Amino acid sequence: MNTNNHQKVVLVGDGAVGSSYAFAMAQQGIAEEFVIVDVVKERTQGDALDLEDVTAVTAPKNIYSGEYSDCADADLVVITAGAPQKPGESRLDLVNKNLKILSSIVKPVVDSGFNGIFVVAANPVDVLTYATWKLSGFPKNKVIGSGTSLDTARLRVGLAKKLQLDPRDINAYIMGEHGDSEFAAFSAATAGGKPVVELAKEAGLSFDDLLKVEDETRNKAYDIINLKGATFYGVATTLMRISKAILRDENAILPVGASLEGEYGLKDIFIGTPAVINGQGLAKVIEVPLDDREKDLMAKSAETLRQVTTDGLN
Ligand code: LAC
Repeated sequence: MNTNNHQKVVLVGDGAVGSSYAFAMAQQGIAEEFVIVDVVKERTQGDALDLEDVTAVTAPKNIYSGEYSDCADADLVVITAGAPQKPGESRLDLVNKNLKILSSIVKPVVDSGFNGIFVVAANPVDVLTYATWKLSGFPKNKVIGSGTSLDTARLRVGLAKKLQLDPRDINAYIMGEHGDSEFAAFSAATAGGKPVVELAKEAGLSFDDLLKVEDETRNKAYDIINLKGATFYGVATTLMRISKAILRDENAILPVGASLEGEYGLKDIFIGTPAVINGQGLAKVIEVPLDDREKDLMAKSAETLRQVTTDGLN
């Protein structure tokens, strides 16, 4: 962590997600130095020129097209490089293709002398976060996945529509795999200090109605991809939020892809759970009290990932 307030972020992968993340970071005026790395140099050069025009309105920043060597003194390396899902493709279908891409990225980053924090967003993100930890040899708290942060945003939007509330006031989490086995921890969800299940009842909604919101959340990426071909603004904004929590040393509680050391009865896995995020990376996993339904779903989600992690990394 830079002691002065000059903070440096390197983005690896300048596709739709990476470019949107860079735009979100420039809009928010986070990080004094922002480097964009990608195999397509013209793209990174063009994006850097385009984004510097943003800084004339938001805040002066140094944004440029760079190389892996620029990671040496970076606080944060954010990896979005990887093939995105195509219509009908699951995130897990991308594992072999994106593991190969990831392997070509992590080594040069580590070889640069990088000693900051990795944030991983390429899919299947929980598997690639685990792989980044393995390939980098970094301590687990310095490797963070976007996890279920995007899914949690989607859940809050879905519940907000049903309950006529501001999504920012809904304290509800999607947990588990960022993928088809994710689930909503409704038993621990509150708004205004009241259980969401109670608020739903007051709004004439049954638990089945809540399960419908969970299902819509789980499938929202497919809906978006079928309509516009890809998703990027939502994930880019949650990546910006995670970056801000690290760079501003916030101790923010965010649902990231975290390494478990026995929480939920799981270890040697990265999976979506609320955790405390600060300048040191992942400070603490918050082990949410789950009911029997949720415990079962967390175990099933972990099993899904364990299988893929084992197959994909051998
Ligand atoms: C999504 C991608 C980022 O859920 O996995 O939109």
